[in-house]
Amino acid sequence: MPTQSANARAKLVVGNWKMHGRLAENAALLQAVAQGVGELNADVRVGVCVPSPYLAQTQSLLEGGPVAWGAQDVSAFSHGAYTGEVAAGMVAEFGATLVIVGHSERRAYHRESAELVGIKTQRVLEAGLTPIVCVGETLEEREAGLTEQVVADQLDEVLVKLSVEDAARIVVAYEPVWAIGTGKSASSDQAQAVHAFLRSRLAAKGAAVASVPLLYGGSVKPDNAEELFSQSDIDGGLIGGASLKAQDFLAICKAAAATGVAG
Ligand code: PGA
Repeated sequence: MPTQSANARAKLVVGNWKMHGRLAENAALLQAVAQGVGELNADVRVGVCVPSPYLAQTQSLLEGGPVAWGAQDVSAFSHGAYTGEVAAGMVAEFGATLVIVGHSERRAYHRESAELVGIKTQRVLEAGLTPIVCVGETLEEREAGLTEQVVADQLDEVLVKLSVEDAARIVVAYEPVWAIGTGKSASSDQAQAVHAFLRSRLAAKGAAVASVPLLYGGSVKPDNAEELFSQSDIDGGLIGGASLKAQDFLAICKAAAATGVAG
């Protein structure tokens, strides 16, 4: 993915627009983000995952600049009679480098199983793109003391399908379901604890996998970003609501730059 600096360990901030946007507002937002990230002139990697119909527009506005782009989901198949589906290879044709897979909204509303998320991750990697694999527990699961078990099961279903080389190419996003879109972020201690646990699971797959970027997502805002990104195992963020406002998203990118290099 295009980087702002040669430092591969710079923090990573990715916007997840979800099903928001229209051509005119996208243009204003993308231009403001590209310009703002350019002016930051800082050690941070930034991307936006847009609704697939807007990939061409996004490519035309971001190409050659400091911000990467991608999609929010892809098909588990590479091509064929799958009405309504979008293949990873199609996303790649628009210069995209990122694809979110296994977002909790897809797991919940589209019945995506952990196994399907693993298959989609394989399709994304085959297309030469970077999958951002989302894991996270519900409030009920957290209160039942099942957080580690839930995220481990979700992650393991993906890792089991990948070679060590491919596993080293993924990004993992820890997104507690109860923190998404609720305004109630995990505390930095809660997030760090799960990140450290995920890091150990990744390390068990292979030394090269231990250093994949681990993003936190769930109500990240300008006023809590720096605290979250200061944690030793938090390598950046996956940003929903706040990625739709250029000023807020740029403030979060700035916080990522201010907290320095990951790991
Ligand atoms: P939020 O969403 O920042 O609006 O909580 C995060 C996400 O769902 O990726």
